Amino acid sequence: MLTKNTNKIYIAPSILSANFAKMGEEVNHLEKCGADFIHIDVMDGVFVPNITFGIKMVKDIAPFSNLVLDTHLMIVEPWKYVEQFAKAGSHYITVHYEACKEKLAETLDLIKSFGCKCGLVINPDTPVENVENCIEKCDIVLVMSVFPGFGGQAFIPDVIKKISQIRKIINNLNKDILLEVDGGINFDNCKAVKEAGANVIVAGSTVFNAKNRAEAIEKLRNN
Ligand code: DX5
Ligand code: ZN
Repeated sequence: MLTKNTNKIYIAPSILSANFAKMGEEVNHLEKCGADFIHIDVMDGVFVPNITFGIKMVKDIAPFSNLVLDTHLMIVEPWKYVEQFAKAGSHYITVHYEACKEKLAETLDLIKSFGCKCGLVINPDTPVENVENCIEKCDIVLVMSVFPGFGGQAFIPDVIKKISQIRKIINNLNKDILLEVDGGINFDNCKAVKEAGANVIVAGSTVFNAKNRAEAIEKLRNN
């Protein structure tokens, strides 16, 4: 059963799984296929063992869709780049607790100071207790259901408990904070993720490997 504040489900395809050589087209196609967010996985090869794209990618794709640009910073010292990602057109900027640690609260405030919605991200092995006191500052909380760095990994089922735990915290705060889950989500595990309380679903390979992306997005939203 869905807990409160999770009526509307948003689907956020990750462009990590898109064809980088035609990213504008891919983003425009996602809008036509009914996506709600574009999930932009920024990786620096230091915080995670992979490198993707950066500020200019956000700037270049922004004119290709009216969707929410959801920038997930998997980088070290993210506070140094918040202004540039904000000015490039990000609507949401999420930063990892594991990269910010004691600078998390001030980094969330910094994101907001540039007019963006802010969010924290926790890895599968980070306890909710480490970030509980910062959740109130967030517009979105992103729970990783894989260890960050690559698309196409297997979903970590233990994360379901954390999703429910954070959903309870958000509901008690009585603030409209989105709960996003990211990594390994497919047609088999999506229902459990939503029932645990997630209302933003990131999907890279499930959407981009589908024969029909619009159907895949609908299936993730409604099944
Ligand atoms: C992993 C990224 C995820 C990933 C999702 O570090 O943060 O957004 O791209 O891809 P799938 O849905 O294929 O696991
Ligand atoms: Zn991501």
